[in-house]
Amino acid sequence: MANIDKNPRVIVALDYPAAEPALELVAGLDPSLCRLKVGKEMFTRLGPGFVENLTARGFEVFLDLKFHDIPNTVAAACGAAADLGVWMINLHASGGRRMMETAMERLEQRSARPLLVAVTILTSLGDADIAEVGYGGTTAESVLRLARLTGQSGLDGIVCSPREASEVRRELGEDFLLVTPGVRPASASQDDQKRVMTPLDALNNGADMLVIGRPVTASADPLGSLRTIQDSIAAFV
Ligand code: C5P
Repeated sequence: MANIDKNPRVIVALDYPAAEPALELVAGLDPSLCRLKVGKEMFTRLGPGFVENLTARGFEVFLDLKFHDIPNTVAAACGAAADLGVWMINLHASGGRRMMETAMERLEQRSARPLLVAVTILTSLGDADIAEVGYGGTTAESVLRLARLTGQSGLDGIVCSPREASEVRRELGEDFLLVTPGVRPASASQDDQKRVMTPLDALNNGADMLVIGRPVTASADPLGSLRTIQDSIAAFV
């Protein structure tokens, strides 16, 4: 795995329909306290210029576009994302070993590269859903199988539920990066997340980095909420 600084461990998910409210939030945050995640909605609406705006403000950006295509296309997309100067990108492990290896090879040709992590099984899918698309076994078994394939393909780690983190950590070892959404401070609303863990529990369970959206973005005091989260995980800084 690339030599990485895990701090700050919080990645704030910017899920807004327009640039203005996102930039208003970002103006009140601090790159020493968080990284930022830009997903499909904001990127599709606002494009690379929005990402460059965030990096120009000193933030490290996780570009969450979950690439899934033939190896050459995904490798080219990863190269284009790297050209934007982002810190982390992702793809679907179900695109297969050759897709993942080709993407990683393309990134490793660069003097500096973003971290590359994989999504195994979307947490919106249950056992019946994955059976319907042709996967055998349980979601938990598929997560582990795809996590192993991701590691064998040379990627830096995976995005997973904090509840899956301890088992993946046991199987894949200390150097495999685990990025976990579905994290809620004890005092925050669960929103539409069904199975959540507190930031401290997630890190104790093996997570390295925490994707946290609404507990910060919907807070009346985003910086204060972020500081409270940081204080709760001070043991890991
Ligand atoms: O607001 P909240 O903390 O729920 O935001 C979590 C972020 O992580 C959102 O951008 C969501 O799309 C993303 N995510 C997730 N669960 C997954 C994968 C990604 O919540 N399994």
